[in-house]
Amino acid sequence: MKIGIIGTGSIGSLLAEKLAGAGYQVKVTNTKAMPELEKIASALGATPASIYDVVKGVDAIIFSMPFNTYKDLPKDLLKNVPQDVVVMDTSNYYPFRDGEIAELQQVTESEYISGILDRPLVKVFNNMLEGTLKYKGRPSGAADRVAISIAGDNPEHKKVVAHLVDLTGFNTVDGGDLADSWRQQPGTPAYCTELNEAELKQALAVAEKGKAPAIRDFIMDNLMKKDQWPSYEEILAGNRLHEMGKSK
Ligand SMILES: NC(=O)c1ccc[n+]([C@@H]2O[C@H](COP(=O)([O-])OP(=O)(O)OC[C@H]3O[C@@H](n4cnc5c(N)ncnc54)[C@H](OP(=O)(O)O)[C@@H]3O)[C@@H](O)[C@H]2O)c1
Repeated sequence: MKIGIIGTGSIGSLLAEKLAGAGYQVKVTNTKAMPELEKIASALGATPASIYDVVKGVDAIIFSMPFNTYKDLPKDLLKNVPQDVVVMDTSNYYPFRDGEIAELQQVTESEYISGILDRPLVKVFNNMLEGTLKYKGRPSGAADRVAISIAGDNPEHKKVVAHLVDLTGFNTVDGGDLADSWRQQPGTPAYCTELNEAELKQALAVAEKGKAPAIRDFIMDNLMKKDQWPSYEEILAGNRLHEMGKSK
């Protein structure tokens, strides 16, 4: 299987490394010029590619960029990409960083991105912290495996995504259609709380749509008040305080 990854930041680079390590042919791109991109790709076990080449001749594409940068991608990027290519989105929206986007009152974050890319998407890898992806992967069948949710409208694409998630060391829970993906957005009990499969199913079920933005902003305000940026464990602990509707 061939995979193209757009974005080699915290999440894109870990995914590239893990999937290349699992034996896949991985191409990567970012905003950098070729000599620097070549170095980054080589360190990840991947091949450097231009933005148009990264989506060519692949079976799956992972977009892993800051939410407000998707609008800068070429409008025709996926025009010639066959519909059976699985397209994933790892993004999350934070208004303090990405600005106010009025459409998000009506649609989920990944539906909004799907509109920009003009392509159905699977939302995945958004509801785990970088530290979770880096440190908490376990072999298939391990009792202490963390689960993440997958939301999208195409069951066949979701099966492929579940397989890729498994290779990165995690279990999956079906988070429903893309329209349901608000249940795994920031501020929900399923968001970056390192749950097992049963806990994650419960967390998705108890999510309250109206509450999530306020909880998201409350958690972020608290993190930003600290003298230094908190560790992964501190961020996780902050998120878990709100897990299962414990927060008021
Ligand atoms: N960090 C986390 O813990 C975490 C967890 C789950 C989900 N997420 C979400 O996943 C997404 C990626 O997060 P991240 O932390 O990996 O971000 P990041 O570290 O800021 O990396 C973003 C990557 O996107 C690339 N990029 C930006 N604009 C681009 C463009 N127009 N064309 C091609 N590449 C472009 C950047 O290129 P350059 O390298 O050239 O700058 C960079 O490699 C975000 O939406 C984030 O909210 C993050």
